[in-house]
Amino acid sequence: MTDIVIEGGDPLNGIIEISSSKNAILPMIIASLLTDEQVSIKKVPHIDDVYNTLAIFDYLNINHCIDENDTLHIYNQKNIINKINIPSNLTVKTRTSILFLGALINRNKQISISHPGGCSIGKRPIDIHIDSFNILGIKIEYDDNNILCTRKARHNYNEINLKIPSIGATENIILASVISDSTTIINNCPIEPEVIDFINFINKMKGNIAIDIVKKQITINGVATLHNISYQAIPDRIELITYALGAIITKGEITIKNANINHIQTDIGHLKNIGAKIKILNDSEISFKYTNSLNGINLITTEFPGFSTDLQAQFTVLLSVANSISTITETIFENRFHHIAELQKMGGKYQIDNKTIKIYPINQFKSAELNGIDLRGTAALLLAALNANGKTIIKNVDLVYRGYNKIEDNILQCGGKIIKISK
Ligand code: EPU
Repeated sequence: MTDIVIEGGDPLNGIIEISSSKNAILPMIIASLLTDEQVSIKKVPHIDDVYNTLAIFDYLNINHCIDENDTLHIYNQKNIINKINIPSNLTVKTRTSILFLGALINRNKQISISHPGGCSIGKRPIDIHIDSFNILGIKIEYDDNNILCTRKARHNYNEINLKIPSIGATENIILASVISDSTTIINNCPIEPEVIDFINFINKMKGNIAIDIVKKQITINGVATLHNISYQAIPDRIELITYALGAIITKGEITIKNANINHIQTDIGHLKNIGAKIKILNDSEISFKYTNSLNGINLITTEFPGFSTDLQAQFTVLLSVANSISTITETIFENRFHHIAELQKMGGKYQIDNKTIKIYPINQFKSAELNGIDLRGTAALLLAALNANGKTIIKNVDLVYRGYNKIEDNILQCGGKIIKISK
């Protein structure tokens, strides 16, 4: 368990280099199970979701190491244990453990894993994974403990119409069908940059997947084998915008390095409407600065290129110190408002009506004693603490390390006062 103490009120000024995207890298790591050749993924962030995924590799008896340049090497996949049943002490630590189903059933007739974990931000059912696997000829049976996956048949042609453009289900379908002699079409697919990067990764392993972004359609032409790869994933757009909000809410200025500006156009638009000053310095560098005051706005979380649910909590914090009322409507997850109760302890004023939070303006947050919640919610509490005058203690912040690489170092380097207390 880790607590963090932040003495807020100072502007964050400086330069931060963004890590590779967590949500792009995690499925890539799991896709390495689909080849017997070496997979190298460059600039892997030091985050718990990566380590927890690699713990499942240890269990499967697969070798891996992260070298001094932060490149993850995965090799000797042939060593994989035969009877696969991944236990819950390993699967509960990440949501992406569900993707082991797709990768492992591609190489085995039957496998079972315990239910995945992940942040408790909603019911997070797996019905779309199950229905899609059924179409692929894979039967899923599950009880409260285990998910059992059995390959019944392989069809030449599969067409899957997703009722929701689920990122996880799409990645699972790709993993389960990329090595095959069939063609699989996914309609109503997600078009998040992380999904596209994952497809690029598989294609660089000599997979054959096409995505039509306008039609929102993925075509997977099965191949016989996938091969070795050395790859660097896209930058983490959620990490990037979290630090941008850190600069704005503390009346500072941060320059971000290793940005992909195309991935954050929607956020740039919202931040300009709020009143932040934004300068695109070149293809991969951008700066964010506070100006005189911040305007309230109304936001709705939707799939890409809409406003991301993974930024909802952090924008709630920023909009709390705007000069007029704002609203944020959460349409992706039904229970992603845990940060509100903590922010109320800091003087935040909110009213929740079904899926919408009404955010009433306050001048500044007050320091308080808080409890860490889910990954993005805890990041939001850190932002509020950086804005507040005085010392804020956030207890049990561990979930923030699932997704933010060296977060204390980055804040310290920009002049923030933050102390980590490991218990
Ligand atoms: N859904 C179903 N049935 C399913 C699968 C999903 O109803 O079988 C619903 C979910 O309950 C949710 C919606 O569909 O309401 C979208 O879920 P999706 O499957 O797309 O989410 P995910 O793959 O579990 C990824 C990210 C999340 C991000 C969501 C939405 C990863 C590892 N995780 O989750 O990231 O919030 O997409 O964009 O890629 C985070 O980084 O903090 C995080 C939670």
